[in-house]
Amino acid sequence: MVMSQIEQNAHDVLPKTNHDELARQQFVRSFKEHIVSNIHPGLRTTYEHRAKKRFEAANGASPSDKNDVASVMKPDPYYRMFSSLLRTSQEMMWSSVQLPVARSINELASSAAQADPIGSLRLDPDLPLPKYHSAVDIHCQPGGYHTEYIDGDVAQGAMYDRAVYIYAMGQMGRDNADMGDSVIAWIKNNYPDFSPKRILDMGCSVGHSTLPYTDAWPDAEVHAIDVAAPMLRYAHARAESKGKAVHFSQQNAEKTDFEDGSFDLVVSHILMHETSDKAVKNVMAECNRLLAPGGLMAHAETPPYEGMEPFDAFMLDWDSTNNNEPFWRRSHELDLPKLTTDAGFDADKMFSVMAPSAYQIADAERSGTFQGGDFGGGGVWFIYGCEKA
Ligand SMILES: C[S@@+](CC[C@H](N)C(=O)[O-])C[C@H]1O[C@@H](n2cnc3c(N)ncnc32)[C@H](O)[C@@H]1O
Repeated sequence: MVMSQIEQNAHDVLPKTNHDELARQQFVRSFKEHIVSNIHPGLRTTYEHRAKKRFEAANGASPSDKNDVASVMKPDPYYRMFSSLLRTSQEMMWSSVQLPVARSINELASSAAQADPIGSLRLDPDLPLPKYHSAVDIHCQPGGYHTEYIDGDVAQGAMYDRAVYIYAMGQMGRDNADMGDSVIAWIKNNYPDFSPKRILDMGCSVGHSTLPYTDAWPDAEVHAIDVAAPMLRYAHARAESKGKAVHFSQQNAEKTDFEDGSFDLVVSHILMHETSDKAVKNVMAECNRLLAPGGLMAHAETPPYEGMEPFDAFMLDWDSTNNNEPFWRRSHELDLPKLTTDAGFDADKMFSVMAPSAYQIADAERSGTFQGGDFGGGGVWFIYGCEKA
């Protein structure tokens, strides 16, 4: 296994690692690369040559949906070994980022507090945390997004920044910005004359996807909201360190304090699958309220089951079954036309597409293999949204 030499871009609040901490993080990343490249492909072979045959012998028919596949894959030793390894890599990833953050929690908080504002940070200590957010440590992140250990804490944000890089094995770029860059590339490709003046990113975490919007439309005012204060403090300090003006505020995307029609573009990136069904409906309605006529809503998500082979749909459920993602499974069953029209949008203005990864396009350009980018639906990010009439 050859590990990529590319490292995450440093900035003022990225936790510093000593030799052993970095070695541990790099081990977790290469362990995950090994699982994905060398163990994962064996799952399909196991299914085709063992589990499926077992199902057919017992039922006289092939598996017809993901539940049929689950009935023979879940007990299979190969699937169990794969799941154990991947779950272990997730737990090791969090431990590996916790150690350097715990060691420097006070310095990180004071460094974040010294950020020299070109943007802004508005916190609301009285904002209630939604239950879907606080009741479970989502994707096994110890303490979730919101836990605070000291005054002005940024620990959860610092852990998340580094963990996303390891989790994605660098595939989201040196700033973990691929989702934002990809949504922007898709919008620019499909709406070449669109030039938003006010942009809102909902569920921004540490701003990985937010910052690309400040470069894509430099004259726009960019806002970003999240319910978790440690994420926002860290996001603000990170943005300032990179010289990007973003106005962060602690708000629930289901109901914000922004005025009606005050944005031209409202986006989110992997927010929806971490909220309840009711919350998704509320967020969509809030997007409709916040958009000015002619504005655009776009949500980047993991793909729906629709059109998938039963085996792929079963594998898509892995995170719900094994990685503390309680809403992941249901988020792939959304009735998007109904959701969009119930939120007050026009059905004929809605879109949903598998958009290409901006990082993969850039990589192909660098290596001379670029063929235009597949904006016709063969990409990796699922984007759904609507134009506001
Ligand atoms: C997976 S992270 C989003 C990642 C981020 N958008 C990015 O592209 O890097 C989900 C974030 O949504 C936030 N969140 C969850 N429910 C929310 C809500 N109702 N309103 C605002 N933020 C929310 C969480 O605190 C967390 O930071």
